[in-house]
Amino acid sequence: KIGEVADSMGFGVYVVGGFVRDLLLRRKNDDVDIVIEGEGITFAKAFAEMMGARINTYSKFGTSVIIFPDGFKVDVATARMEYYTAPAALPEVETSSIKLDLYRRDFTINTLAIRLSPEGFGTLTDFFNAQRDIKEKRIRILHNLSFVEDPTRVFRAIKFEQRFGFTIGKVTREMIKNAIHLDVFRELGGLRVFNEFRQILEEENPIPAILRIFDLGLMKIIHPGIEKHNDLIDQLDEAKKVLAWHDLMYTDEPIERWVIYFLTLLSQCDREISEEVAKRLMLAPKHKKLITGDRFHARNAYTWLTYSLPATNSDLHRKLSPLRAELLLYIMAVSANEEIKKAISHYMSQLRHISLSIMGRDLKEMGLKPGPLYSRILEETLAAKLDGTLDDRDDELAFAA
Ligand code: CTP
Repeated sequence: KIGEVADSMGFGVYVVGGFVRDLLLRRKNDDVDIVIEGEGITFAKAFAEMMGARINTYSKFGTSVIIFPDGFKVDVATARMEYYTAPAALPEVETSSIKLDLYRRDFTINTLAIRLSPEGFGTLTDFFNAQRDIKEKRIRILHNLSFVEDPTRVFRAIKFEQRFGFTIGKVTREMIKNAIHLDVFRELGGLRVFNEFRQILEEENPIPAILRIFDLGLMKIIHPGIEKHNDLIDQLDEAKKVLAWHDLMYTDEPIERWVIYFLTLLSQCDREISEEVAKRLMLAPKHKKLITGDRFHARNAYTWLTYSLPATNSDLHRKLSPLRAELLLYIMAVSANEEIKKAISHYMSQLRHISLSIMGRDLKEMGLKPGPLYSRILEETLAAKLDGTLDDRDDELAFAA
């Protein structure tokens, strides 16, 4: 359908990039990117209207996103037809605009295109030997200025290398070193660095990529104070293990996985460095709070645990309940103490889910006037329940009374 609509408007159309790459690698990919040889936005508007879909357009870039009623999205980019008037009376020459569009991309593996136009439908277009690089498991840039043009690509190279088990090609590796040497990252906006870094931390197993970032001397782009200290690898491995444990136990509780790796990386940085990291990465207030505030609350809870174990259930609950799951998993990752890990997992798997069956209304029915006393009574009743002295609702009512 896409091909026919575009064709009726006189435009060529291709599905390109990651989607095609992942098709060849037999990996799932729900991000469909298409390139229109012509006017992408004009096409997207017409196609969206026909399909009853919504559309967002970014005219500055000639791009749009078509959003179907079921949430499925298609990104549409424009490869403008470029005509060169040849000398004398020869006709105008049309360059292959899809080729130019693909040439501007980061790595050869992302330059594959499949034609969707009726003429040549389904043909795989490979201008830059992408199939060979996929076969030989290689990440390769298209031209030597690639990283200077867009330094975030250095992070992307590392991401793809680890995700697919590929290797960064020799020349490409040299160009990364060159980019680091030229300090092309200095001008790079914090949001873009954060975006790439976060994507790496969200990979299935981000540890090899993190180590690669250290080894290439790239971590200092975020902050020179983030160090590969002696315990770091063990802690990152532990972070991976606790995440796997969490996945197994709580399949329906989504957590921000990258946060746990991020906090683990920063665990030995002081507040001042954390403030600077937040500034460098232009973190949103809630993420800034996570590394400059919440992390230290988690550390206080950790210190408390080192001195207070074994503790009663109610004490554990009081100390740990203000901390969100990511922070608890973080403490488990950085703690070498088995007792502490056990206490946290006991809290997460059991205590966290215990709640009272009585509430304020029951206290009111007992004739108690509403006021601050309510929360104290409920807190103490919960503490008694956690410590196992109350069996049922009647016990709770009796205790509260
Ligand atoms: N791209 C680029 N330079 C960048 C970012 C992206 O050239 N700094 C190009 C890539 O060629 C990519 C396309 O833009 O194919 C779309 O980018 P993105 O959605 O990030 O692509 P994916 O390759 O699908 O990455 P991921 O699988 O992680 O989503």
